[in-house]
Amino acid sequence: MRRVIIAGNWKMYKTIDESIELVNLLKRSVVDIDDVEIVVCPPFTSLSDVRESIMDTNIKLGAQDCYWEKEGAFTGEVSCAMLKSAGCEYVIIGHSERRQFFGETNEMVNKKAKAALREGLKPIVCVGEKLDDRRAGKTFDVVKDHVVNSLSGLTREDMMKVVIAYEPVWAIGTGVVATKDQAEEVHKYIRGLLKDMYDANIADSVRIQYGGSVKPENIRELIAEEDVDGALVGGASLKADSFTQIIKGCL
Ligand code: 13P
Repeated sequence: MRRVIIAGNWKMYKTIDESIELVNLLKRSVVDIDDVEIVVCPPFTSLSDVRESIMDTNIKLGAQDCYWEKEGAFTGEVSCAMLKSAGCEYVIIGHSERRQFFGETNEMVNKKAKAALREGLKPIVCVGEKLDDRRAGKTFDVVKDHVVNSLSGLTREDMMKVVIAYEPVWAIGTGVVATKDQAEEVHKYIRGLLKDMYDANIADSVRIQYGGSVKPENIRELIAEEDVDGALVGGASLKADSFTQIIKGCL
Protein backbone atom coordinates (compact mmCIF):
# COMPACT_ATOMS: atom_id res chain seq x y z
CA MET A 1 0.00 0.00 0.00
CA ARG A 2 1.29 3.44 -0.87
CA ARG A 3 0.99 5.96 1.95
CA VAL A 4 -0.77 9.16 0.93
CA ILE A 5 1.56 12.17 0.95
CA ILE A 6 0.30 15.76 1.02
CA ALA A 7 2.99 18.40 0.64
CA GLY A 8 2.58 22.16 0.81
CA ASN A 9 4.77 24.14 -1.56
CA TRP A 10 4.77 27.63 -0.10
CA LYS A 11 6.72 29.04 -3.08
CA MET A 12 8.01 32.59 -2.44
CA TYR A 13 5.51 33.34 0.30
CA LYS A 14 5.85 33.82 4.08
CA THR A 15 8.42 35.67 6.11
CA ILE A 16 9.87 33.84 9.09
CA ASP A 17 7.22 35.16 11.48
CA GLU A 18 4.42 34.31 9.05
CA SER A 19 5.87 30.83 8.55
CA ILE A 20 5.93 30.13 12.27
CA GLU A 21 2.38 31.39 12.65
CA LEU A 22 1.19 29.11 9.85
CA VAL A 23 2.84 25.91 11.12
CA ASN A 24 1.78 26.59 14.69
CA LEU A 25 -1.83 26.68 13.55
CA LEU A 26 -1.34 23.70 11.26
CA LYS A 27 0.28 21.44 13.81
CA ARG A 28 -2.65 21.86 16.18
CA SER A 29 -5.23 21.05 13.54
CA VAL A 30 -3.57 17.87 12.20
CA VAL A 31 -2.34 16.55 15.53
CA ASP A 32 -3.99 13.12 15.44
CA ILE A 33 -3.49 12.29 11.78
CA ASP A 34 -1.28 9.28 11.08
CA ASP A 35 -2.69 7.98 7.82
CA VAL A 36 -1.39 10.85 5.72
CA GLU A 37 2.24 11.88 5.46
CA ILE A 38 2.30 15.66 5.86
CA VAL A 39 5.14 17.80 4.48
CA VAL A 40 5.61 21.58 4.40
CA CYS A 41 8.11 23.22 2.07
CA PRO A 42 8.75 26.80 3.23
CA PRO A 43 11.25 29.17 1.63
CA PHE A 44 14.90 28.60 2.62
CA THR A 45 14.90 31.46 5.12
CA SER A 46 12.15 29.85 7.20
CA LEU A 47 13.41 26.26 7.23
CA SER A 48 15.22 26.30 10.57
CA ASP A 49 12.47 28.12 12.44
CA VAL A 50 9.77 25.90 10.98
CA ARG A 51 11.83 22.89 11.97
CA GLU A 52 11.82 24.12 15.57
CA SER A 53 8.05 24.59 15.51
CA ILE A 54 7.32 21.11 14.10
CA MET A 55 9.78 19.21 16.27
CA ASP A 56 8.00 16.11 17.67
CA THR A 57 4.93 16.56 15.49
CA ASN A 58 3.62 14.57 12.51
CA ILE A 59 4.70 17.31 10.07
CA LYS A 60 7.85 16.87 8.01
CA LEU A 61 10.06 19.46 6.41
CA GLY A 62 10.98 19.89 2.76
CA ALA A 63 12.84 22.48 0.69
CA GLN A 64 11.77 23.87 -2.68
CA ASP A 65 15.04 23.44 -4.57
CA CYS A 66 18.69 22.52 -4.12
CA TYR A 67 21.97 22.72 -5.96
CA TRP A 68 23.91 19.61 -7.00
CA GLU A 69 27.43 20.58 -5.95
CA LYS A 70 28.54 19.72 -2.42
CA GLU A 71 29.97 23.19 -1.73
CA GLY A 72 31.93 25.90 -3.49
CA ALA A 73 31.80 29.32 -5.09
CA PHE A 74 28.18 29.18 -6.25
CA THR A 75 26.75 32.42 -4.92
CA GLY A 76 23.13 32.15 -3.94
CA GLU A 77 22.87 28.38 -4.18
CA VAL A 78 22.02 25.97 -1.35
CA SER A 79 23.51 22.48 -1.13
CA CYS A 80 21.73 19.29 -0.12
CA ALA A 81 23.96 18.94 2.95
CA MET A 82 22.82 22.42 4.04
CA LEU A 83 19.18 21.40 3.61
CA LYS A 84 19.79 18.22 5.56
CA SER A 85 21.39 20.21 8.37
CA ALA A 86 18.37 22.54 8.39
CA GLY A 87 16.17 19.51 9.11
CA CYS A 88 14.80 18.72 5.66
CA GLU A 89 13.68 15.23 4.77
CA TYR A 90 12.28 16.13 1.34
CA VAL A 91 13.25 18.48 -1.47
CA ILE A 92 11.11 19.54 -4.43
CA ILE A 93 13.09 19.30 -7.66
CA GLY A 94 12.28 20.47 -11.17
CA HIS A 95 9.14 22.41 -10.34
CA SER A 96 7.66 23.87 -13.52
CA GLU A 97 8.33 27.39 -12.21
CA ARG A 98 12.04 26.50 -11.99
CA ARG A 99 11.93 24.97 -15.46
CA GLN A 100 10.02 27.96 -16.89
CA PHE A 101 11.59 30.97 -15.14
CA PHE A 102 15.06 29.69 -14.26
CA GLY A 103 15.84 27.55 -17.26
CA GLU A 104 16.06 24.22 -15.50
CA THR A 105 16.47 21.29 -17.85
CA ASN A 106 15.92 17.58 -17.30
CA GLU A 107 19.67 17.22 -17.06
CA MET A 108 19.84 19.72 -14.19
CA VAL A 109 16.86 18.09 -12.50
CA ASN A 110 18.63 14.76 -12.79
CA LYS A 111 21.82 16.11 -11.20
CA LYS A 112 19.79 17.64 -8.37
CA ALA A 113 17.89 14.40 -7.76
CA LYS A 114 21.13 12.44 -7.56
CA ALA A 115 22.70 15.00 -5.22
CA ALA A 116 19.64 14.92 -2.97
CA LEU A 117 19.68 11.13 -2.77
CA ARG A 118 23.41 11.13 -2.03
CA GLU A 119 22.73 13.31 1.02
CA GLY A 120 19.82 11.18 2.18
CA LEU A 121 17.10 13.62 1.08
CA LYS A 122 13.96 12.34 -0.63
CA PRO A 123 13.34 14.15 -3.93
CA ILE A 124 9.87 15.17 -5.04
CA VAL A 125 10.48 15.28 -8.78
CA CYS A 126 8.00 17.42 -10.72
CA VAL A 127 6.88 16.65 -14.26
CA GLY A 128 4.08 17.97 -16.44
CA GLU A 129 3.01 19.41 -19.75
CA LYS A 130 2.11 22.97 -20.75
CA LEU A 131 -1.26 23.89 -22.21
CA ASP A 132 0.17 24.02 -25.75
CA ASP A 133 1.62 20.53 -25.33
CA ARG A 134 -1.76 19.20 -24.24
CA ARG A 135 -3.57 20.95 -27.09
CA ALA A 136 -1.08 19.50 -29.55
CA GLY A 137 -1.67 16.00 -28.17
CA LYS A 138 1.85 15.83 -26.77
CA THR A 139 1.04 15.30 -23.07
CA PHE A 140 2.42 11.78 -22.90
CA ASP A 141 5.53 12.68 -24.93
CA VAL A 142 6.40 15.57 -22.60
CA VAL A 143 5.70 13.58 -19.44
CA LYS A 144 7.78 10.69 -20.76
CA ASP A 145 10.66 13.02 -21.58
CA HIS A 146 10.50 14.52 -18.07
CA VAL A 147 10.23 11.19 -16.27
CA VAL A 148 12.82 9.25 -18.24
CA ASN A 149 15.43 11.99 -18.34
CA SER A 150 14.91 13.45 -14.86
CA LEU A 151 15.26 10.00 -13.29
CA SER A 152 18.01 8.74 -15.59
CA GLY A 153 20.58 6.57 -13.82
CA LEU A 154 18.66 6.28 -10.55
CA THR A 155 18.82 2.80 -9.02
CA ARG A 156 15.89 0.75 -7.79
CA GLU A 157 16.99 1.59 -4.25
CA ASP A 158 17.00 5.30 -5.11
CA MET A 159 13.53 5.04 -6.61
CA MET A 160 12.08 3.75 -3.34
CA LYS A 161 12.81 7.22 -1.91
CA VAL A 162 11.56 9.27 -4.86
CA VAL A 163 8.13 10.87 -5.06
CA ILE A 164 6.90 12.02 -8.46
CA ALA A 165 4.61 15.05 -8.69
CA TYR A 166 2.53 15.29 -11.84
CA GLU A 167 1.79 18.99 -12.21
CA PRO A 168 0.20 20.01 -15.50
CA VAL A 169 1.46 23.56 -15.97
CA TRP A 170 -1.95 24.79 -17.16
CA ALA A 171 -3.45 23.79 -13.80
CA ILE A 172 -0.91 25.55 -11.58
CA GLY A 173 -2.22 28.68 -9.91
CA THR A 174 -4.97 29.00 -12.51
CA GLY A 175 -7.91 27.57 -10.58
CA VAL A 176 -8.33 25.09 -13.43
CA VAL A 177 -7.81 21.70 -11.84
CA ALA A 178 -7.27 18.61 -13.97
CA THR A 179 -10.33 16.39 -13.87
CA LYS A 180 -9.93 13.18 -11.93
CA ASP A 181 -9.86 11.30 -15.23
CA GLN A 182 -7.18 13.57 -16.72
CA ALA A 183 -5.04 13.13 -13.61
CA GLU A 184 -5.55 9.37 -13.39
CA GLU A 185 -4.75 8.89 -17.08
CA VAL A 186 -1.34 10.51 -16.71
CA HIS A 187 -0.59 8.93 -13.33
CA LYS A 188 -1.31 5.50 -14.78
CA TYR A 189 0.91 6.33 -17.74
CA ILE A 190 3.76 7.33 -15.40
CA ARG A 191 3.36 4.08 -13.46
CA GLY A 192 3.61 2.21 -16.74
CA LEU A 193 6.83 4.07 -17.56
CA LEU A 194 8.27 3.09 -14.17
CA LYS A 195 7.42 -0.51 -14.92
CA ASP A 196 9.31 -0.31 -18.21
CA MET A 197 12.26 1.52 -16.65
CA TYR A 198 12.45 -0.65 -13.52
CA ASP A 199 9.93 -3.35 -12.66
CA ALA A 200 6.41 -3.92 -11.35
CA ASN A 201 7.49 -3.63 -7.74
CA ILE A 202 8.97 -0.16 -8.24
CA ALA A 203 5.95 0.88 -10.32
CA ASP A 204 3.64 -0.22 -7.50
CA SER A 205 5.70 1.41 -4.75
CA VAL A 206 6.54 4.88 -6.05
CA ARG A 207 4.09 7.52 -4.94
CA ILE A 208 2.73 9.90 -7.56
CA GLN A 209 1.24 13.17 -6.34
CA TYR A 210 -1.04 15.40 -8.35
CA GLY A 211 -0.44 19.17 -8.25
CA GLY A 212 -2.31 22.11 -9.76
CA SER A 213 -5.19 24.02 -8.14
CA VAL A 214 -5.79 21.37 -5.48
CA LYS A 215 -8.41 22.67 -3.06
CA PRO A 216 -10.54 21.27 -0.22
CA GLU A 217 -13.36 21.02 -2.78
CA ASN A 218 -11.56 18.76 -5.25
CA ILE A 219 -9.15 16.64 -3.19
CA ARG A 220 -11.63 13.87 -2.41
CA GLU A 221 -12.34 12.92 -5.99
CA LEU A 222 -8.68 13.17 -7.00
CA ILE A 223 -7.40 11.03 -4.13
CA ALA A 224 -10.07 8.41 -4.83
CA GLU A 225 -8.31 7.59 -8.11
CA GLU A 226 -6.24 4.43 -8.03
CA ASP A 227 -2.94 5.99 -9.07
CA VAL A 228 -3.22 9.34 -7.27
CA ASP A 229 -1.22 8.98 -4.05
CA GLY A 230 -1.31 12.52 -2.74
CA ALA A 231 -1.02 16.14 -3.71
CA LEU A 232 1.54 18.90 -4.02
CA VAL A 233 -0.41 21.96 -2.98
CA GLY A 234 0.50 25.57 -3.70
CA GLY A 235 -1.96 28.36 -2.90
CA ALA A 236 -4.20 26.29 -0.63
CA SER A 237 -1.22 25.32 1.56
CA LEU A 238 -0.71 28.95 2.61
CA LYS A 239 -3.64 28.85 5.02
CA ALA A 240 -3.77 26.33 7.85
CA ASP A 241 -7.49 25.90 7.40
CA SER A 242 -7.52 24.96 3.71
CA PHE A 243 -4.38 22.81 3.97
CA THR A 244 -5.90 20.94 6.92
CA GLN A 245 -9.11 20.36 4.99
CA ILE A 246 -7.11 18.94 2.09
CA ILE A 247 -5.25 16.58 4.43
CA LYS A 248 -8.50 15.51 6.10
CA GLY A 249 -10.09 15.04 2.69
CA CYS A 250 -7.69 12.13 2.15
CA LEU A 251 -8.79 10.19 5.25
P1 13P B 1 -1.39 25.73 -6.92
O1 13P B 1 -1.93 24.72 -5.93
O2 13P B 1 -1.36 27.12 -6.36
O3 13P B 1 -2.07 25.60 -8.25
O4 13P B 1 0.15 25.35 -7.16
C1 13P B 1 0.47 24.04 -7.47
C2 13P B 1 1.94 23.89 -7.39
O5 13P B 1 2.67 24.42 -8.21
C3 13P B 1 2.49 23.10 -6.28
O6 13P B 1 3.84 22.86 -6.46
